[in-house]
Amino acid sequence: MSFIEVTDLSKTFVTEVRHKGRFGAVKSLFSPQYKEVEAVKNVNLTIESGESVAYLGPNGAGKSTTIKMLSGILVPTSGEVQVGEFVPYKQRKKNAYQIGAVFGQRSQLLFDLPLIDSFEYLRYMYTIPHGTFKKKLDHFTEILDIHELLKRPVRTLSLGQRMRGEIIAALLHDPEVVFFDEPTIGLDVMAKDRIREFIRQINREENVTVLLTTHDLGDVERICPRLVIIDKGTIVYDGDLALIREKYATQKTISMMLRDEREAEEAARAAQKTQGLIVDADGRKVTVGFDQLKTDSAELMRSLLSESNPVDLSISDEDIEAIIKRIYEEGIKEEVLV
Ligand SMILES: Nc1ncnc2c1ncn2[C@@H]1O[C@H](COP(=O)(O)OP(=O)(O)O)[C@@H](O)[C@H]1O
Ligand SMILES: [Mg+2]
Repeated sequence: MSFIEVTDLSKTFVTEVRHKGRFGAVKSLFSPQYKEVEAVKNVNLTIESGESVAYLGPNGAGKSTTIKMLSGILVPTSGEVQVGEFVPYKQRKKNAYQIGAVFGQRSQLLFDLPLIDSFEYLRYMYTIPHGTFKKKLDHFTEILDIHELLKRPVRTLSLGQRMRGEIIAALLHDPEVVFFDEPTIGLDVMAKDRIREFIRQINREENVTVLLTTHDLGDVERICPRLVIIDKGTIVYDGDLALIREKYATQKTISMMLRDEREAEEAARAAQKTQGLIVDADGRKVTVGFDQLKTDSAELMRSLLSESNPVDLSISDEDIEAIIKRIYEEGIKEEVLV
């Protein structure tokens, strides 16, 4: 038995569709119309204790709905969900003790009160012994560097500061698993980095199981070796991040730095003669994108060097961000299907 077991899990939302037009509201009152949205469809997922899994997909794919079912906030339409020993929607309270949840778009902190009050409130809610509480809080305030913020009202904190508070709030009761739903949304690079490092640390060092939803693939590369991709409510990939890269990273980019803009323009023009290349010149820099399955990179290098005289040259793989975007747009290739 795995720590998290999700079997044929589905959630369908039924929402009322408003009639349009002048008397729409009246019409809706007498003959309401309904629309069904299958947010999650027959999802199967198992996660072992101590794993860290990225849960990715385009907007509206069903990520948050899945997380809400794991948290016990939503009742599934059909299928089974088990976290540890509990069925979240049936044993909400027991489940609450073993899970933590951070929703980037929603706060669990008390906005008008000092940050420390929210933590004290959680201590009371979860009946955390004073000693344990103090130890945990000291430890987390130290690593996340928020000691100075404890006395500040939450509403005066920046988004990055608040998010650090949210994460501590989700961890004080020592959960087995934490669901992070877009924890880095809207944060600058520094703030993201700090949060990434922290999530990685609690996973690696304290063995907290992590399920992370994000649009930032930098988060995934840093934290999660395993990737689950959901699209339109259905899981389309479950496996290694490395495999995705191997199968999809066929686009490469050569960057050349020329002596001046005129040479850059000439180099770009020369490269443009070769079919299938995406050439871009910006000041002294020329970038040449190509598909390594279609273009021999050694051959291409030789031809570029014979026609121009770069002072610097580098070749790089497509970043994971671009790869995942392509998967969302084009679907998954047969050979990497689960
Ligand atoms: N409470 C709700 N009522 C009706 N439809 C919902 C509700 N929550 C989510 N949905 C719909 O379910 C689908 C999946 O949403 P969600 O799980 O939030 O996606 P994601 O988190 O992947 O962006 C979307 O089409 C969304 O509009
Ligand atoms: Mg969401």
